Amino acid sequence: ERHLISAADLTRDDAVLVLDTAEELARIADRPIKKLPTLRGRTVVNLFFEDSTRTRISFEAAAKRLSADVINFSAKGSSVSKGESLKDTALTLEAMGADAVVIRHHDSGAPHRLATSGWIGGSVVNAGDGTHEHPTQALLDAFTLRRHLAGGPDGDPVAHGTAGDGTGRDLTGRRVTIVGDILHSRVARSNVLLLHTLGAEVTVVAPPTLLPIGIESWPCQVSYSLDTVLDTSDAVMMLRVQRERMNAAYFPTEREYARRYGLDGDRMSRMPGHAVVMHPGPMNRGMEITAEVADSPRCTAVEQVTNGVSIRMAVLYLLLGGAEPAVTTRTEESK
Ligand code: CP
Repeated sequence: ERHLISAADLTRDDAVLVLDTAEELARIADRPIKKLPTLRGRTVVNLFFEDSTRTRISFEAAAKRLSADVINFSAKGSSVSKGESLKDTALTLEAMGADAVVIRHHDSGAPHRLATSGWIGGSVVNAGDGTHEHPTQALLDAFTLRRHLAGGPDGDPVAHGTAGDGTGRDLTGRRVTIVGDILHSRVARSNVLLLHTLGAEVTVVAPPTLLPIGIESWPCQVSYSLDTVLDTSDAVMMLRVQRERMNAAYFPTEREYARRYGLDGDRMSRMPGHAVVMHPGPMNRGMEITAEVADSPRCTAVEQVTNGVSIRMAVLYLLLGGAEPAVTTRTEESK
């Protein structure tokens, strides 16, 4: 597959290949030589129609660490504000030469349209489309989970920070709870799909008004009560309430939402000792997560950002196929 549009497109083997490649690239980049020549002469375009801090910067860092040329396009300040269409924007980028287009768009389905339209010849990577999917976020979350939960020699969860890289392992039987605004969350959909593929047992927790129609068909359990699932979770992933995608009439009040669905120090203390707290960012401190939890050593939010660079390096490397085999698996290396 030349594109990455949905977590559903990844088989277990595909996903494990991306995770193992990211581990290897993280290991290489940790050495003094931080830049690899793998994508020299290739051009990656970051095409962002929606705001982003983490995803845009980490794709840029990932492409640069692989020696690709990077063009950053932001709809704000471009001719999109004069009414230029996705098609004409894409044709313009294609005319300048793009081997990969990383697209974030407010419309669900825009990356699929770009990949299937014939407007561009390069690979398309979905960096978040509307309320649909954010597959590289799910991959970096799985990478983070695997490091924390899949590395014990007997397969048991091990203490925070001591799991090693978990290379080659999946997340079979690990219990991941995803909490919050599932209705508007592309992160939730991609995570449920990918974590299920990797063998995890996923539960989503939300008020009924923040669950999408058709949630019964997702490969996960559904609960309305955070308190009942805390003590059986290996990881609790908190999501931001996306006010910008809501009708103001449906805003939950901060106080009421935090009381029922927010993660504070008391709730965190009821999680098993090895369990981690995750957040894709950006956070609404005081709403879905307190500052005490966000800043605690059990919260992996900053580590997730670091891991995002390795994952995006792996995705670009695997899609664009480096000129030389910069990546070897540990098994090959030990032969
Ligand atoms: N997690 C995430 O996608 O963050 P950004 O919106 O800052 O890219």
